[in-house]
Amino acid sequence: MAMIGKSIDRIDGRLKVTGAAKYPAEFHVPDVVHAVLVQSTIAAGSITGFELKEARDMPGVLAIITPDNAGKLSHPENVPQAMAGPLLQNNDILFNGQHVAVVVAETLEQAQAAASAVRVTYTRGEAATSMDAMLGQAYVPKHFRNGQRPPDSNRGDPDGTFNSGAVKLDATYITPVEHHNPMEPHATIAAWNGDKLTVWTATQGVGGAQATLAGQFGIDKADVRVLCPYLGAGFGSKGNTWPPATLAALAARFVKRPVKLVLTRAQMYTSNGYRPRTVQKLKLASDVNGSLISVRHDGFTSMSQPVLGEYAEGVALATEMLYACPNLAVTHRLVALNASLPTYMRAPGEAPGVFALESAMDEMAVALKMDPIEFRLHNYAETDPHDNKPFASKALRACYEQGAKAFGWEKRSAEPRSMRDGNTLIGRGFATSTYPTNRQPSAVKVRMDRQGNVVVQCGTQDIGTGTYTVMTQVASDTLGVPTQRIRFELGDSDLPPAPVSGGSQTVASVAPSVQAACQALVDKIKDLALANANAGWQGQSRDTLRISDGLVIGPDRRMPIPALLEHGNHPFIEAEAKTQPGAEKQKFSMHAFGAQFAEVRVDPDLGIIRVSRFVGAFDAGNILNPKTARSQLIGGITYGIGMALLEETLTDAETGRIVNTNVAEYLMPVNADIPDIETIIVVNDDKNSNPLGVKGIGELPMVGVAAAIANAVYHATGVRVRKVPIRIEDVLV
Ligand code: MOS
Repeated sequence: MAMIGKSIDRIDGRLKVTGAAKYPAEFHVPDVVHAVLVQSTIAAGSITGFELKEARDMPGVLAIITPDNAGKLSHPENVPQAMAGPLLQNNDILFNGQHVAVVVAETLEQAQAAASAVRVTYTRGEAATSMDAMLGQAYVPKHFRNGQRPPDSNRGDPDGTFNSGAVKLDATYITPVEHHNPMEPHATIAAWNGDKLTVWTATQGVGGAQATLAGQFGIDKADVRVLCPYLGAGFGSKGNTWPPATLAALAARFVKRPVKLVLTRAQMYTSNGYRPRTVQKLKLASDVNGSLISVRHDGFTSMSQPVLGEYAEGVALATEMLYACPNLAVTHRLVALNASLPTYMRAPGEAPGVFALESAMDEMAVALKMDPIEFRLHNYAETDPHDNKPFASKALRACYEQGAKAFGWEKRSAEPRSMRDGNTLIGRGFATSTYPTNRQPSAVKVRMDRQGNVVVQCGTQDIGTGTYTVMTQVASDTLGVPTQRIRFELGDSDLPPAPVSGGSQTVASVAPSVQAACQALVDKIKDLALANANAGWQGQSRDTLRISDGLVIGPDRRMPIPALLEHGNHPFIEAEAKTQPGAEKQKFSMHAFGAQFAEVRVDPDLGIIRVSRFVGAFDAGNILNPKTARSQLIGGITYGIGMALLEETLTDAETGRIVNTNVAEYLMPVNADIPDIETIIVVNDDKNSNPLGVKGIGELPMVGVAAAIANAVYHATGVRVRKVPIRIEDVLV
């Protein structure tokens, strides 16, 4: 029947549009009470005291938890968020909006009212709010990529060769702080039963949340259960277990009742990470023919105070591997500010990094008077120039060709301001996309009952991308059972463990386990059939049997699987499998690729920029479901259009307070901002990377979009804007 590769509808689609899909905050837990966070109003200093009498005397108030009475939590290993400020462990204030108290009351309204009556007194310290002013004090990340590689790399002699270039570029590119803004707010319900903790929380990884909470409360992992059957997106913001989840559990222990804590939209700007601001210095040199001879990419990214943890945006990682160049250096540095801890946000590293690199590549092509695609092809990396490994697969040439054809790239005239529609300037820009292919260990359990119904279980997460759907397709093909008979369960830490749904790794990690567990079940069913007297297949081998539509089909006859279970008196049959990456990472460089084409229309008098067309062509390996894949592709491109023209978190330099903590003033694209997007899936099947041949598709389509648009804006206007978002005032010169 081959379900893999089919555009089936989302299995959870109907549940979501009818409201039947239950998000963590929607679970009814008897006796639940409500917690509301109180946040600091200064960016640096310390708390000198609380005035709580008024709040305490208000109706329904059960507790006000502050650093004075919160009690100590432990600091588990490998938890990126520190225990200092945000978990009420001391009086230090490290950023504006830091949680300083939790008010618990019978109703949400009572908790909100009392929270607004909490008075905090502070001594105010000097706040570092300007990254540019602090660049000179940038520091080397201590745990870059979890210590798996150094933050810097060097090949050849980039500095010595730069000056010999016939064409040289030395430019700085800047991207702002951006916030994820998932539709569903971060939310937790925490309930203790003795020393056992149950938590319904919005998370991209129930296993990570379980480990973090167990560590913080000093209890066994087995005594923490984390549930999240549906997620209203995360984009990276729900990858870590952030302080509000911990504070909900702390509050529940404090009042000995289940506690619900849902963040306001404004609180989501200081409670759960953001994409750091980046300042990226690029130096590129090429010979007269357009061969790159020197590349340097120095990346500075903004951070919180170091005591809160560490997050380094890997802005220059794509630069290492994307083009062949013998002399190259990259560095990553952090700049500590009085801000909350940044984190992964869709296409972390590559989204801002490739904006800088692919803008710089466009500038080089212009200076060389070369076609931008021609220039990329001239420097095409046939093998990974960073680690000298072959690519597991790379269909980037096909992305360029198919994207250019669909876009009509050859009709572009190279000269800036040379294309118009009436008075409107038309610009066409191009950029490359790439994102690493990741995979981690995962485990799956599968069970079939006497009616032939199948349950497949894995503690993975569907962040809105289609995990429920594609895993059901994989199980269906392996088991020979129609999708309607399969239920895929996820989002529960009691299920077999899987990695966080981040880094575009879910399908590559989990699908092989689904396949292996289902294959193990098929083998068990065949063994049952071979041993069954009625079937008359004794002495035959498994290979003589196959399974299709719930039947075991063998020589001369077919047996319904339910009948086999009944004959053998088995209530059900089950199997488990664990899978993990093999030696492929040692052998290959694994990446997805893409080509992004943007057309913009710019009003030359008013500077208004509209994206009028967009084409993206992608090599994401094997595609399990073209329909959910297209949703990812247009979602990523839309995210990239937001990055290019709209999104920017603004902090008041004086108070260190974020001023646009809402979706009215933090601009994001709406339907009217988004043109018809054409997506092309370039046929590829990367079995070198994993058994399903997939490369991951969540982050790839966002990468390069901002550069393609910036390059199109240059082509339309002749103005090179080296920062995003590109605003009206940037092109009115
Ligand atoms: Mo993605 S930013 O790795 O959730």
